Amino acid sequence: MIEAEKRVAAEAAATLVQDGMTVGLGTGTTVAQLLPALAARDLRGVRYVSTSPRTEAAARALGLAVEPFALPALDLAIDGADQVAPDGWLVKGGGGAHTRERLVAAAARRFVVIVSSDKPVEALRPPVPLELLAFGLESTLRRLPGARLREPAQPSPDGGLIADLHEPDGPLADPAALAAGLDATPGVVAHGLFPPSLVADVLIARGGEVEH
Ligand code: 5RP
Repeated sequence: MIEAEKRVAAEAAATLVQDGMTVGLGTGTTVAQLLPALAARDLRGVRYVSTSPRTEAAARALGLAVEPFALPALDLAIDGADQVAPDGWLVKGGGGAHTRERLVAAAARRFVVIVSSDKPVEALRPPVPLELLAFGLESTLRRLPGARLREPAQPSPDGGLIADLHEPDGPLADPAALAAGLDATPGVVAHGLFPPSLVADVLIARGGEVEH
């Protein structure tokens, strides 16, 4: 059921891609359903950038033209999410790709999120994924009570280490304040709290239907 919904959301998002576009590809099991939907369309001249080595490998295997992210802007980016709050805040980074995902989303004129019906929540909750700089890691962790490195160790493709913030023990009362605090913490490369201002559309699949 959930896997089928991921495919429904992914297929809806694939229809947004037009010939000649530059398109950012996210990471995860929902995006894994997007790639064959894109490959099945007879699109010409689309240039893709990928947020992770695994998406890149899967996209290339399907014949999609993935290039290094050396473009000043993208027409569109499509990605999944771990949680979607009613006010549009997201938690991302379950797959540990949130640093690149944030860069690609920020570069896109339109960032579209695709999720199954289990992802909308009443309020965001921990864990909040983090990427931490390897340099000075112990001191960064000391500044972040409640943060724990993933085990086994999950290095990012950019040399950071993936961790998760497990506090507070309950809903995140103020995601914007938490995001600002994490942004201001030396050693935090990126976190998985994505603001509504970054997101143009959220496509939520429920059964065979897509809600916007
Ligand atoms: C990876 C992500 C994914 O988009 C998020 O974890 C959702 O994944 P899935 O589509 O497998 O449920 O942020 O870093």
